[in-house]
Amino acid sequence: MKILGVCGSPREGNTLFLLKKALETCKELGVETELIHVGLLKVAPCKACGACKDTGICVQKDDMTPLYDKIRGADGIILASPVYLGGVSAQMKAFMDRTRALRGKFELRNKVGAGISVGGFRNGGQETTLQQIFNFFLIHNSIVVADEATSHYGGVGFGYNIGDSDKDEYGIKTSQNTAKNMIKVLKLIKGGAKEEIKSW
Ligand SMILES: Cc1cc2nc3c(=O)[nH]c(=O)nc-3n(C[C@H](O)[C@H](O)[C@H](O)COP(=O)(O)O)c2cc1C
Repeated sequence: MKILGVCGSPREGNTLFLLKKALETCKELGVETELIHVGLLKVAPCKACGACKDTGICVQKDDMTPLYDKIRGADGIILASPVYLGGVSAQMKAFMDRTRALRGKFELRNKVGAGISVGGFRNGGQETTLQQIFNFFLIHNSIVVADEATSHYGGVGFGYNIGDSDKDEYGIKTSQNTAKNMIKVLKLIKGGAKEEIKSW
């Protein structure tokens, strides 16, 4: 089992911190993880040429190119983004749109997807950002999970400056619980759920 964490922040800040907390929880549960900091990579936006619809391959060759196989190889994917004007960062959106190449054959079908969002304001759009992430997974025919018992929507962080999330107990807890719930659902899907992993 493998969980891929994707960080959409263009800096090493709060989103990366909470995503790492979630991935540490996966590791504690014995699950392999990989973190891709897409916000620091060069991923161009989709240019709508439509070529991938026939071939399943994006014609643009950049830092997204090696990520396709990493996505294919993941059982669970956590998309983590800062809240930018109520939605995901441009870097995360470029990553999302470029996965259209995988949708022709629904290569994300039955993967488990979850989200983490961090806003500088308490009610600054964390839920709308998570909803955007959920739409992505639904359109890919993935299975969406949240954190079950805490925020109800996934990892919800509150922090403005780098380092703020270190003190955000709620953000840490909801990110960890999201990871636990993802592993629980994956075990159920794969038929290995012998005992319940409690998320709270
Ligand atoms: C372009 C931009 C737009 C932002 N828009 C919002 C917003 O709509 N709501 C909010 O709560 N915070 C907003 N913020 C603040 C960031 O979400 C916040 O600083 C967050 O911690 C950034 O995550 P990071 O440390 O992982 O980069 C915005 C920041 C930037 C740079």
